[in-house]
Amino acid sequence: MAEPAASTLIPLDQVDPALVEDVLDRAFGPGRQERTAYKIRQGTDWLPGLSFAALDAEEYLVGTIQAWPVALNDPQGRAHPLIMVGPVAITPERQDQGFGRALMAAQAAAIDPAAPIPQVLIGDAPYYGRFGFTEAPRGWQCPGPWDPARLLIRGAAPATLPQAGMLGPWLG
Ligand SMILES: CC(C)(COP(=O)(O)OP(=O)(O)OC[C@H]1O[C@@H](n2cnc3c(N)ncnc32)[C@H](O)[C@@H]1OP(=O)(O)O)[C@@H](O)C(=O)NCCC(=O)NCCS
Repeated sequence: MAEPAASTLIPLDQVDPALVEDVLDRAFGPGRQERTAYKIRQGTDWLPGLSFAALDAEEYLVGTIQAWPVALNDPQGRAHPLIMVGPVAITPERQDQGFGRALMAAQAAAIDPAAPIPQVLIGDAPYYGRFGFTEAPRGWQCPGPWDPARLLIRGAAPATLPQAGMLGPWLG
């Protein structure tokens, strides 16, 4: 595993939103807004206490992580709150230098341990498995195309969440 890069992490709301969009464009390429993850959190605002930026030793913005309030809506019509993690985005020329890991650690540390809300994301299990994410129950649905092997959760005691439901924005 790469050694952590020399970096400074700051709250994302201290960064010009246009620079954040630029990092996301460069990490994900065109069409990122069509992704199912964007549909799940549609209409919500990212959570400032759980969203961070990474600056390199020269104080250039090299990566971002966000988190969003979403819900699993069960078949009985109850909404179960979840934190949606991501995107995690590192500029292409600074990938594999530990910035993503540093951002994931900062966000995990900021989640209130006294009232941990389970986290969900759509991403590569070999990467996010390092941070404790495992496959969501196969009964969980998304409002767009998704690969079940990439729908991942963390921090949920299996008995506390429904085995079936539709993910969507937290509108409570
Ligand atoms: C995926 C991403 C966030 C990882 O951040 P990073 O700073 O590049 O990676 P880190 O330095 O934290 O970790 C590097 C390690 O993760 C591994 N890794 C990186 N991306 C991976 C992936 N998609 N799947 C599996 N392993 C991955 C690397 O091989 C490396 O492994 P090693 O430690 O055994 O050498 C970053 O590469 C990125 O922004 N990619 C494009 C956008 C994206 O796919 N975001 C994630 C979906 S929300």
